[in-house]
Amino acid sequence: MDDLIHAAPATPGLSARVKPRHPLSPLDAGEIRAVMAIIRDDAAFGPGFLFETIELKEPTHDALAAVTAGHAVPREARANIFLGDKPGIWRLTVSLSDRVITASAFLATAKPMIQLEQFLAIEGVVRAHPDFIAACARRCITDMSMVCVDPWSAGNFGVPGEEGGYLSHTFSWLRLRRDENFYAHPIEGINAVVDIKAGKVIRVDDYGVMPIPMAEFNYEAQFRESFRPSLKPLDIIQPEGPSFVLDGHAITWDNWSLVIGFNAREGLTLHDIRVDHRPIVNRASLAEMVVPYGTPEGGHFRKNVFDIGEYGLGKLTNSLELGCDCLGHIAYLDVDLNTMTGDVFHIDKAICIHEEDDGILWKHWDFRTERTEVRRGRKLVISSIATVGNYEYASYWYFTQDGMIEFEMKATGIINTSACVPGQPSKYGTEVAPGLQGHIHQHAFCARLEMAVDGPGNSVVECNTFAEEDDAKNPYGNAFYQTETVLESEQAAGRRANPQTQRFWKVINPNKTNHTGKPVGYKLYPEHVLTSYLKPGSPSGIRSAFMTNHLWVTKYDPEERYPGGEFMNHSTGAGGITDFISHDRKLVNTDLVVWHVFGLHHQPRTEDFPVQPCIKAGFKLMPSGFFDQNPGIDLAPGVNKASKLAGSSSCCAG
Ligand code: CO
Repeated sequence: MDDLIHAAPATPGLSARVKPRHPLSPLDAGEIRAVMAIIRDDAAFGPGFLFETIELKEPTHDALAAVTAGHAVPREARANIFLGDKPGIWRLTVSLSDRVITASAFLATAKPMIQLEQFLAIEGVVRAHPDFIAACARRCITDMSMVCVDPWSAGNFGVPGEEGGYLSHTFSWLRLRRDENFYAHPIEGINAVVDIKAGKVIRVDDYGVMPIPMAEFNYEAQFRESFRPSLKPLDIIQPEGPSFVLDGHAITWDNWSLVIGFNAREGLTLHDIRVDHRPIVNRASLAEMVVPYGTPEGGHFRKNVFDIGEYGLGKLTNSLELGCDCLGHIAYLDVDLNTMTGDVFHIDKAICIHEEDDGILWKHWDFRTERTEVRRGRKLVISSIATVGNYEYASYWYFTQDGMIEFEMKATGIINTSACVPGQPSKYGTEVAPGLQGHIHQHAFCARLEMAVDGPGNSVVECNTFAEEDDAKNPYGNAFYQTETVLESEQAAGRRANPQTQRFWKVINPNKTNHTGKPVGYKLYPEHVLTSYLKPGSPSGIRSAFMTNHLWVTKYDPEERYPGGEFMNHSTGAGGITDFISHDRKLVNTDLVVWHVFGLHHQPRTEDFPVQPCIKAGFKLMPSGFFDQNPGIDLAPGVNKASKLAGSSSCCAG
């Protein structure tokens, strides 16, 4: 199996020459170039267009089912394109097989995601603007080359002069010397509003001067004079190589199989997830996220950023480093994306695949016979990390030997900082260093899960636990029981977690039963839920409506992809989950999409600065009546021969 891993070409594009690509493999560099050429050669478009996103138009469930019958699936792409000097987005479908545009729609008010290539351009125009220079001079800043301007999305606040714009609203910091952590030195009170397409500053707001905190707080090793003594090496040794087999983008491991996808917006996507050849999820992704900040002060009320819908986690994905980001025996997948101007943007080592020890999976000691059975568990990990401005978002999908799928988001990087009078932080923030504060905020994530538990035809059941209220049935006061209620339609399936009833949800297949005669299922336990503090009718509340519930369920529609809407920049809140459920489609025994909203409630700590240790949020999909018994029961017993007693000479020399 090691050979197979290494036989898989490092560049996905090369695999096209070796054998047909899996129908769910992301577009390779050649396909992305072909899409650009088809659009530029088309008389209706031409070479002047810019490319927001180009991605695989994933085949429908029916088309995928035909693959197993031996039919090839034509490769198609979605392309969103725009012009530098005109509003709107053209949303195209391109047939790669026939080399033609097969569908096109013009969306006059839609705005593209803020493109990576625009970040530094926005900084450049702001730093050169006389009003911004004057505002900096009022703060005794004269060397504009040391001013760092972060291009935040502008939201939609109805500010006069901003109507219909494709805008960025910026925040600024001061870098004191080369490589120094500028987030320690916020230039408080100045926000520029930039028309991104025109490359012009349309306004500079100055909310008043606040002293810039000048103490350095660095995280780079080059700035440290000493380090604590290092721990002794901890190596992951797999003398026979890892146990997964990667064939292009398809992977098998233990009793799991799935296909790994990727796009510029969501980053990692997982497809056709099966255990013991039984389908569980057709497609899983993190479809949107929003980070609302809780302060009304200065220009900070505008911070309500949709990092997936307004920037694209995929496009901001890191190239990972072996032995640093990833420990052990690692397989990487590279990804190819489009640039705005019509090139291919290659990210080397974008997706990390490896195994981790997962502690004991199960154990029992029979105290009468003194016999012990124990099995260690292991997990398959598929991950990627994106940097969005100051924050890092590290996404981990885990697959375990007891049939569980887990998603974990690790948020790290640098908190967004602002300046305050030392000792007098805002009501809405924490002072993390003298004169430096982080505002209260949340990171709300929305996973989109096309469920297929044991095949098509699923329903969602809500489970709640109650104490027995009937005293006649509960003479000792101990009785409690669980109820199950089918969520029959989309309106009924907008639900919130409830710790008082230990609420969770179960996706069942009413057409398949286990050996007790009950429908097979997978449960979703909401472990990291948030209360949204955005007022529902407020500018950010309207656009973040998906945050109001922790569960949404919709009837499967491949065009309903993003819970906030497809075009999030300056959006009105239309085109998202509340529109999807407006028809109140029936959800019983059908093709379902489960949307789970979870996240991190973040009142910054002093420990989150100058760089934040990973804080985590996620969810688990756990088999519940899916298997007839513990799915790890057939793991063979074994003893890890490399394990040693601490204190023995081999491990404690020196
Ligand atoms: Co945070």
